[in-house]
Amino acid sequence: MAASVERPRLPRLTKKNDATGFIFYRSVYVLDRNTDLETAVLDKTQLDPLTYRHAMSRLAGHVHIVTAEHRGERRGVTITAACSVSDNPATLLVCLNATNPKNGIFTDSGSFALNLLGADQMDLAHVFSGKNHVDPTARFEHGTWGTLETGAPVLQQAVAAFDCRLIDIKTVATHIVLFGEVVAVTLGEQKPALVYLDRDYRTL
Ligand SMILES: Cc1cc2nc3c(=O)[nH]c(=O)nc-3n(C[C@H](O)[C@H](O)[C@H](O)COP(=O)(O)O)c2cc1C
Repeated sequence: MAASVERPRLPRLTKKNDATGFIFYRSVYVLDRNTDLETAVLDKTQLDPLTYRHAMSRLAGHVHIVTAEHRGERRGVTITAACSVSDNPATLLVCLNATNPKNGIFTDSGSFALNLLGADQMDLAHVFSGKNHVDPTARFEHGTWGTLETGAPVLQQAVAAFDCRLIDIKTVATHIVLFGEVVAVTLGEQKPALVYLDRDYRTL
């Protein structure tokens, strides 16, 4: 029979202002009596963005370029926020900043492509993140781009590319989450991946 679990008593949260002006709440540590481990208890709605971003900088993310085409206009954005959802039917998601009006093309288009970058493609990541201030219309002059089924731009030198039909959109906080059913895939040269970790590019 399972031992009865004594729920820890939580101290009151203390509201503070940090140097950046963000309001945050003091982390509360409680002793988990069953495991003798200290467990951080945070109200997720109260965590300040800087602390969250600092912790997330330790999460390694594969670097991709997500693309869309609508009425002759193309857009590509360097992202790390993408993952697989299901293999049947093949489905993935990407998260895009909803506060950037230029990202409206992704919802207007009805399709998008996720292009996985390799270790030798950091220059492309810079171009499509706006770091080099390359004009958005000139960004596709970098790399060789084609299309598969949907018409979304597909990078011919991508490690892999997933051509997706947009099947759902959720707006969550500052971002839109695009769900795509994968309708075509390309497999490029197998080579080390380009990842982003500790606020810098790495290779794996
Ligand atoms: C490594 C890296 C990862 C990024 N990940 C995302 C992401 O997951 N979602 C997103 O909306 N923007 C992400 N960005 C920011 C976009 O690349 C950037 O804001 C956008 O390309 C700016 O486009 P614009 O110059 O056309 O406005 C990331 C940038 C970098 C450098």
